[in-house]
Amino acid sequence: MDKFIITGGTALQGEIPTSGSKNSALPALAAALLTDEPVTLHRVPHVRDIRTMQRLLVDIGSKVEVDHSAVRLHTPAIVCPEAPYELVKTMRASSLVLGPLVARCGRARVSLPGGCAIGARPINFHIFGLERLGARINQAHGYIEAEAPEGLQGATVHFDRITVTGTEDLMMAAVLARGETMLRNAAREPEVKDLADLLVKMGAKIEGAGTSNIRIQGVERLHGAEHTIIPDRIEAGTFLIAGAITGGDLTITECNPEHIGALVSKVQQAGAEVTQPDTATLRVRGGGLRSVDMTTEEYPGFATDLQAHYMALMTQADGIAIILETIFENRFMHAQELARMGAKIRLDGKQAIVAGPSLLTGAGVIASDLRASASLVLAALAARGETVIDRVYHIDRGYEKIETKLARAGAKIRRVE
Ligand code: EPU
Repeated sequence: MDKFIITGGTALQGEIPTSGSKNSALPALAAALLTDEPVTLHRVPHVRDIRTMQRLLVDIGSKVEVDHSAVRLHTPAIVCPEAPYELVKTMRASSLVLGPLVARCGRARVSLPGGCAIGARPINFHIFGLERLGARINQAHGYIEAEAPEGLQGATVHFDRITVTGTEDLMMAAVLARGETMLRNAAREPEVKDLADLLVKMGAKIEGAGTSNIRIQGVERLHGAEHTIIPDRIEAGTFLIAGAITGGDLTITECNPEHIGALVSKVQQAGAEVTQPDTATLRVRGGGLRSVDMTTEEYPGFATDLQAHYMALMTQADGIAIILETIFENRFMHAQELARMGAKIRLDGKQAIVAGPSLLTGAGVIASDLRASASLVLAALAARGETVIDRVYHIDRGYEKIETKLARAGAKIRRVE
């Protein structure tokens, strides 16, 4: 198992480019199942979750060709409409094939995801939505079996709670359903909009993606298309905090600043200087930081996927910051590891109370999930001495060459086996 060894204390300087979005590329890859013509995606990041999704698609019947960051997918026929437990347990986003499979071939068998490091994360809203579109659902032996032999029928689906992949899954199911589907209380995340943009290029009729109400007019078939994935807003946000926490002067290029407006505003309130030299670039200059409270929310609010990173930043800010996590019930695993490095954090249900600034010192810590591990990297960059982060395979699920990118900006970080 790989580890990162990080020696902290260097202010990051220079430029770091952003990769394509993992959470946009995952549904886009699944969308390729909706047509028997080739779909080419550009700017697909080289991360482990993407490789897992590609493996799943190959088992289902897709031919997958990878050329640098371009991926060409071609699915002449669905050979096996199934997402097995072995893959779903390593990546919950595998359930994104449910909607496309039922839409394309009238049946799917997808493993239930089971427990997760950050919360319960059931897929009941995906199932409810498919039932609304006329699919028969049976649950047995840890699997969901969905059937719609006569095809799906458009309907109104009102999500009880905003769900990102649930919205994406249902959108992919509805594009080939007969008649009109309305998705209400839909997720407004940029990744949902990006998926809709790809589906429209494939011939789908979708209005309102990016808002809470998405209207989909079903079509008989979709065709091939070519699409470039949006920049990864969580990766860009990670580098923004890296610049602020190290008191550096860092320019993040090839990103979409609009997608991390909530984070930029918090980092500015905390005292760092953030400017936008052009539409795809952010520059952050760190300085004396002060504590600012934060609550995670659905987009356009502060992303839960950046909560751990923000907690690391607040350990270096003057005062008390209250961080409220509203999306997942168990997403504070990083707090104990940060405490091992000297952070003063008290957990109280959905709240973390961070007192700063504390002197962080290098220590041995363990990565528990993708975003939690990134917060440990950030804390290590600000800490005195050497930090060893174990189980960095969690980071490899969603960050493309993070150590190379950070090292280019002066970070003392290396990977050891
Ligand atoms: N929920 C349900 N039932 C459902 C679906 C969701 O109760 O059927 C609950 C979840 O348990 C959670 C809340 O609703 O409490 C929101 O979950 P959501 O469905 O929006 O999460 P997701 O679609 O499974 C995506 C991202 C996550 C990100 C969340 C929230 C992908 C592949 N994953 O997950 O990203 O944290 O939205 O923004 O898009 C990550 O990249 O590290 C990551 C975890």
